[in-house]
This record gives sequence, structure tokens and C-alpha cells, in this order.
Amino acid sequence: MTIGIIGAGAMGGGIAQVAATAGANVRVYDQYDQALVNCDSAIRKIMNSLIQKGKISAHTANEILGRMIYVADMDQLATCDYVIEAIVENLEVKKTVFSQLESVVSTQCVLATNTSSLSVSAIAAACRQPERVLGIHFFNPAPLMRLVEVVPAIQTIPSVVENACQMLENWGKSAVVAKDTPGFIVNRVARPFYGEALKMYEEGLASPATIDLAMTEKGGFRMGPFALMDYIGHDVNYAVTESVFTAFYFDPRYRPSFAQKRLVEAGYLGRKTGRGFFHYHEGAEPAAPETDPALLEKISSRIIAMLINEAVDALFLGVASRDDLDKAMTLGVNYPKGLLRWADETGIAQCVAKMDQLFDEYHDMRYRCSPLLRRMAAEGITFY
Ligand code: NAI
Repeated sequence: MTIGIIGAGAMGGGIAQVAATAGANVRVYDQYDQALVNCDSAIRKIMNSLIQKGKISAHTANEILGRMIYVADMDQLATCDYVIEAIVENLEVKKTVFSQLESVVSTQCVLATNTSSLSVSAIAAACRQPERVLGIHFFNPAPLMRLVEVVPAIQTIPSVVENACQMLENWGKSAVVAKDTPGFIVNRVARPFYGEALKMYEEGLASPATIDLAMTEKGGFRMGPFALMDYIGHDVNYAVTESVFTAFYFDPRYRPSFAQKRLVEAGYLGRKTGRGFFHYHEGAEPAAPETDPALLEKISSRIIAMLINEAVDALFLGVASRDDLDKAMTLGVNYPKGLLRWADETGIAQCVAKMDQLFDEYHDMRYRCSPLLRRMAAEGITFY
């Protein structure tokens, strides 16, 4: 099998490494020669470090590298069975590349985009055979993250989706199928983790350190929302929130936060700039959280209720299946358990009561309970 990769940046390079490691012949194309050179040296460095750690032999590393070819002309993707595009996140540029690509490859070749925020259907529409186009959304870094979201466009035929899932499983990945809707699964369902934490902070209910403690200690998450946003970078995290909010026609559930916007404007982007919600310069004192168990419980239960409601609504709207929703959040963002399983454990009626209590308090549509959750509570049924 020959896999073409367009775009030799962070994602393209990672995907190329995954495919070559799994035994595929890989051709990496980029419009900038320097990007190809950088990608090649980055992958060689990774291979060397894997050899040094004893994870692979020098022979295996050579075989992997030998399967990778860097090409400076798109025409050299002509014999590919699959092409995965990972170029700049711009719809017009992606459409141009897909329509050029279609005149290079065979009619059997499957065309995939790694977009995280654009409509796969809009990209497919640039092609003469849109039925062979789909989204294959890897997470960063692609070689380490097991989850991949497979996103059929509305034009995609089922066999293309099934084959892509099979190929990804053969590559050692866990594929979930997501509807072509903004944020797919993970970037949609995870929004309240950040958004509700930011809202509670803006309302003065608790400090970032306290909210983080609530989510790690009571929620069981590996990192609290503020530490995680500082780690991701506020520029990146804010941009995703804003794009999801706009794409959902300004649904208040996804409303961005001024507190985060101001950090971006000030250049306090998190760890990478030495300051975000917390300080990271040498000798910086860690912020002290409040430790009152009742307060921590109140905070964590509110964010978790919002996450559960988001996941249930995604199920209600057919974004993904129950199992794929739970798999996506545990593998994609390391949640301690799937949110639908969590709903069962919390009690469906309890989740409804929490949402209704928030709605009564705020009268904000942000806190509307998913109709599916309410129906299940009324009928006394559970997810598992
Ligand atoms: P990047 O900026 O690291 O790499 C993009 C590469 O594409 C660059 O080497 C650039 O020279 C090349 N390129 C741009 N326009 C091109 C064109 N017209 N023809 C050929 N090559 C072109 O970007 P990154 O982070 O790898 O992202 C790529 C795609 O993956 C985007 O669609 C992004 O939304 C998506 N994505 C990014 C994730 C991340 O965490 N960085 C995670 C999941 C998806």
C-alpha cells in the first residue's frame, strides 16, 4: 500500500511516521522544499532516540526510513492508494489542493483530510468524485496518540469509511466515526472542561488553582483545566473555542471567555511564554488552592455535569455512537472514564437535576438539559 502525505509539518510528519512504521510505502509532498528537509531530519532524530531507548532496532529504523520518500512535485503521488492532506487550515487552499490532487491520482485513490475544524463535505465538494473523500483526524503527536476520528462527508460512500477504519486499526490506532459537524467528537465534547471552568473563575466562584484541584482530586482528571490550557497555549485553545462557537451559530454553550481572550491579547499564552493563568518562570511559587471538600465537590460536579450533557447531546444528535463517544474522550483526551458511563454512575436523574438547577439559577440556554438525558431519566433507562 502506498500512502501519500501532503504537508510535511507537525501532523503530516507524524502521520507519515505512523504509516511507514506500520509497513506502508510513504510519499511525503510539501510545497516548501525546506519543510521536506526538516521533516526528514525530525523523523531521523525520532528513530535514533527510539533506537537509543531500545524500542526498535537499527535495522527496523532503517527499514522504516527506507519506506519514506520525500517528493517536491505533487505528480509523484500518482501511484498512491491513499492520500492524507495535512496542510494549512484554510478551506480555499485545501479545496485547490484537492482538485489538483484528483487530476494526479487514480480514480481508486482515497482522499483524506486531517482538518480539525473545517467541513469535510465542503472540501469533498471541490472534487469530481467526492464520494471517495473523508476526514481522517489524527491527534498531536500522531505517533503517540491512539485515537483517530474518521469523518465521512455527506458525499462519502460507506465502503470508504469502513476501509479507512480497517487501515487505521492495522496501523495500531483506535478509530471512531464522527459526523461532519464542528469539532467532530473530542473538540466539541471537551469544550465545557475549559468553558465552564473559565466561567466559574470569571464569576469569582473559585481561583484557577482551586478549580484545577477540584478536577484532579474529585474529578480524577490528569490535569486541571487551567493547567491544561496553559499547557496547550491560550492562543490555540481560544482559537478552537471561537471557531466552534462561530460554527455552532453562536450557541451559548460554546461561548468563549473574556478572561482567556485577555491572556491571548497580553501574550500570556501559557507555559510557552512563561505565564498564563499560572507563572512558570524559575522560582515561581505555585498558586495555593482552597481545599474545602464541599467547595471542590461543587465545582467538579458542575463541570462534569456539563461534560456529560454535552456528550449526551452529541449522542442525541447522531454525532457518534455511545461506544465511540466514550472511547474518544478516554483515548483522545485521557478522561478517567467515558462520559456516558459516568452519567450512569452519577445517576441520569441526578445529571438532569444538576442541569435544571443551573438553568434555574442562570436562565441561560447554555444550561439547557439535553432532551435525550431528560427522556432517559423519565423512562428510567441507562446508557449501559
Ligand atoms: P504545520 O504548519 O506544522 O504544517 C503544514 C505544512 O503544510 C507546512 O509544511 C506547509 O509548508 C505545508 N503546506 C501549506 N500549504 C501547502 C500547500 N498548498 N501544498 C503543499 N504543502 C502545503 O501544520 P500542522 O499543525 O501539521 O497542521 C496541518 C493540518 O492538520 C491542519 O489542517 C490542522 O488543522 C490539522 N491538525 C493539526 C493538529 C495540531 O495539533 N497541530 C491536530 C490535528 C489536526
